[in-house]
Amino acid sequence: MAFSYYIQANCSHTKARAGIFTTPHGTVETPRFMPVGTLATVKGITPRQLKDAAAQMILANTYHLHLQPGEDIVESAGGLHKFMAWEQPILTDSGGFQVFSLSELRKISEEGVTFRSPRDGRIINMTPEHSIKIQNALGADVIMAFDECPPADASKAEVAAATERTYRWLKRCISAHQKPEKQALFGIVQGGIYLDLRSQSVADLVALDLPGYAIGGVSVGEKPELINATVQHTAPLLPADKPRYLMGVGTYREMVQAIASGVDLFDCVIPTRFGRHGTALVNGERINIKNAQYKRDYKPLDETCPCYACQNFSRSYLNHLVKSREMLGYILLSLHNITELIRFTQKIRTAILKDNFMVEFGNWLSKS
Ligand code: GUN
Ligand code: ZN
Repeated sequence: MAFSYYIQANCSHTKARAGIFTTPHGTVETPRFMPVGTLATVKGITPRQLKDAAAQMILANTYHLHLQPGEDIVESAGGLHKFMAWEQPILTDSGGFQVFSLSELRKISEEGVTFRSPRDGRIINMTPEHSIKIQNALGADVIMAFDECPPADASKAEVAAATERTYRWLKRCISAHQKPEKQALFGIVQGGIYLDLRSQSVADLVALDLPGYAIGGVSVGEKPELINATVQHTAPLLPADKPRYLMGVGTYREMVQAIASGVDLFDCVIPTRFGRHGTALVNGERINIKNAQYKRDYKPLDETCPCYACQNFSRSYLNHLVKSREMLGYILLSLHNITELIRFTQKIRTAILKDNFMVEFGNWLSKS
């Protein structure tokens, strides 16, 4: 059996759990943060550095890789793992979300989404079948269903329609999937902030008995307190013996709260995007390294951090690099931020294994 999810410990005060998700390219110890490598690269970070940061599963994106270089190029290279020299697990997002959020001139119908490529202007038709075909060619360990993620300002009727369509599209994804023994297809729960729609979406998906489930349509611009309310309602409805992935969420507090509701996996562009803007994540806070207070600060970003940036360079040097717009500055900050978020989820995992989650992380569970 290529895929399995094994629960090692359950928290006795919350729904948090620690587990091991096994894939054809190795295991993922959960809960865990997954770095985002949209174009088959985690921006500025080599796979060797990712390994040192204790990354296990990383993300790539169907939509972006279809536009550039094209899945045929990746497939001919021997698949995504070989193409990008990452031997551990990879997950590809289906492209649905990115088509909706990134491209203009899109048209959504029951068949799929039509849009104009922002690269060369050609018209592209993305359907559930097409997304799965691309993901089968890319060869990630986990592939995602092609879903419709409505914006935060959509009406309840619109969200309901998108959620039902996501379910119909999921059934088409399952039929189109050619490699279920090599690639696990995760379904995506939609339903926006409407808990009854979330319940219905979970019930529909669970009946299809998938190897894992994601919660989508979260952090799309709704009020922050509704993120936790939605996850708190939705995650416990999902089967306990399958991995649960909360898409696009990766702040400290949102992750702790979601873990307390039973979520296992996270991804977010925050660490690399912040890194490219001179922001470092240190002890649960954001610091702007360009700030004058760091000019003569010869301490590392975080004395307790094992990353190459913290082990070798001072805040003063990073301040200098970023103020000079030197690319090493952005690389070192991204490396630190990725290490930091993975390490944060590792610390949570260790606490759960010792049934010490509430003692160590309970302070994050209060509202804000
Ligand atoms: N990434 C963040 N949210 C979503 C979502 O709802 N669907 C997909 N496919 N990807 C996401
Ligand atoms: Zn560091």
